[in-house]
Order: sequence, then structure tokens, then C-alpha cells
Amino acid sequence: MPISFRGARVLKELSNEELRTLNMVETLLKKGEYAPKDRIVVYSGYREKDVEIYLSRLHKQKLIRRWTGQFVGYSLTLTGFDVLALNTLYNKQIVAGTGRAKGVGKESDIYYAIDFEEKEIMLKINRTGRASFQQVKKKRDFLKNKYHYSIFSIAELSATREYEIMLKLQNQNLPIPKLLGHNRHMIAMEIADGVELVNVQYPKKPIKLLGKIIEFTKTLYQKHGIVHADLTEYNILYDIDNDSMVVIDFPQAVKAEHPEALNLLERDVSHLLDFIGKKWGITTDEVDTVIEYIVGK
Ligand SMILES: Nc1ncnc2c1ncn2[C@@H]1O[C@H](COP(=O)(O)OP(=O)(O)OP(=O)(O)O)[C@@H](O)[C@H]1O
Ligand SMILES: [Mg+2]
Repeated sequence: MPISFRGARVLKELSNEELRTLNMVETLLKKGEYAPKDRIVVYSGYREKDVEIYLSRLHKQKLIRRWTGQFVGYSLTLTGFDVLALNTLYNKQIVAGTGRAKGVGKESDIYYAIDFEEKEIMLKINRTGRASFQQVKKKRDFLKNKYHYSIFSIAELSATREYEIMLKLQNQNLPIPKLLGHNRHMIAMEIADGVELVNVQYPKKPIKLLGKIIEFTKTLYQKHGIVHADLTEYNILYDIDNDSMVVIDFPQAVKAEHPEALNLLERDVSHLLDFIGKKWGITTDEVDTVIEYIVGK
């Protein structure tokens, strides 16, 4: 299988000791700007000479960054963080291997992967903060590398948030992907059939499709108290063979009690009616009427 991203490729070449050392760097970063080499030696229980070998391998693979000041310390790279997450998903028997990219977006990278039964699955890697990170990482005082504000924890928070929302919606007979697992900034889920609405030429019955999306939005709001808040033609997949749809991409979803919930719902609905109406030339109800139906007034 073609291995697509560096984290996955590198993971296969690391020894258990190197992985444990990498893990230790991550843990120590929660306490300071850099993980001091001395601390790694103490916590790992490995001999200093060995730790140096492991660290230099990790450094060569660009999984950690070296810092020399009053002490020698290390921080993680994005690839290092990927390796840690993938390793955990592997150990949990959720992801056995990774494949080609499905899409690389602003906020996430989506990869095909395989589970331990060799079934193709989807791996969503959250990259929140990546764009700004690239811009400011050269500036010396970038967040002083405080772990809790770091790119790692921001991406992890966002992925965890998405996972938890989707978890709450599992097994409810809703058209969303089935979750398979989660770690750090990664979510493993089943592949949903179909293509994004924006790439659909003509659905079998546009009005029926719109009806399904509105029903989904209504159930989400009334039964589960959630507004998707990014319900666009990129986040709805349509499968022409089964005339069915699936909604994806939940990190920004909000609870119905959220002060902006109704505004976000209105934005979702008006965008959707506009898009579907124009694209497939159908006349839809007014936004207000649909909103009233969804919130059940
Ligand atoms: N479970 C899935 N099954 C099939 N395709 C998926 C699945 N999850 C994501 N995708 C594909 O990956 C794309 C991006 O996924 P998603 O919308 O969840 O992430 P995103 O945060 O919007 O990323 P981007 O920054 O690209 O907008 C989707 O538009 C869809 O084509
Ligand atoms: Mg999306």
C-alpha cells in the first residue's frame, strides 16, 4: 500500500525505546518549554548514552527539535505528534496502516487508512492552527511554547471536541459516519459513500434530498440539541446509487443553548436553501418557514 504521510512511514522504522523516548518528550513538554534531556534520562530509566542515541535518531527523523541553552532540551515537531497519535491508534488496534490522501484542507488532512481487518477506513487529522503556526513559528516568542496553547493541544482539543459530538450522535440512526476511534488530533471513522454536494451533477430528486437534510437538521436540533454550524455543500456527501446522504465535519457544532446557536442555524439553512435552489433550479420555502419547522415553533 502506498504510504502517504511521513508520520506513518517513520513510525514503522522506530524501535519501542525510541517511541517511548518520544512519548516522554511530549509528556515533559506539558511542564515546560522544552523537555530537558536530563529529565528524559531520569524518567525513562535508560542509560544516558542510550537516550542520546534515541534522541539523535528521533532528531534525524525530524520528530523532535533540539534546543541548547542552559540545558539541552527537546520539543516536538508536527510529524512527531503524528507519530505518537498513529502509534496509539495502532496499539489500540484501530488503524493498521495508512494509505493515500483523500484531501488536504485548511483545517484537516484526510487519509485513507486500513483497520485490522484490512477494511478501508478514513483518518481525519486535525490541523487547526497549522497555517498560523507556519507564519509565526519563526518569531521567537511564539506563545512561549506553552503546551496548552501549542498547536498540538489546539488540534487535539478540536479533534476531541468533534469526536465527542459525533459520539453522542452515534447509533441514533442519523446519517453521519460511524466512529472507530480517536487519539490526540486524529479521528478514525468509516468511509461515507458519495461525493460532496458541490461536486454532484444532479441528484435523483433534489427536493427530496433537501427534505432529508432539513429533517436531519431538525432531529439534530430537537432531539439532540445541536446545531451543525458548517452545513455546507462541502460537508454533505451524496451517494447517487443509493440516493442517500451523509453529513460530516462537526468540530464547530454548538449546543442549542449556545447564544449564537440560532444565528448559526439560520446561516446554515439560508446558505443551504440558496445553494440547492440555485444549483438545481428548485424553488424552496423561505428561510424563516424552514427555521420555524426545524426549531418546532
Ligand atoms: N467519513 C468520511 N467519508 C468520506 N469522506 C470523508 C469523510 N470525512 C471526510 N471526508 C472527505 O474529506 C473532506 C474534508 O473533511 P472534513 O469536512 O471533515 O474536514 P475539514 O475540516 O472541512 O477540512 P477542510 O479544511 O478541507 O475543510 C470532506 O469534504 C470529504 O470529502
Ligand atoms: Mg469540511
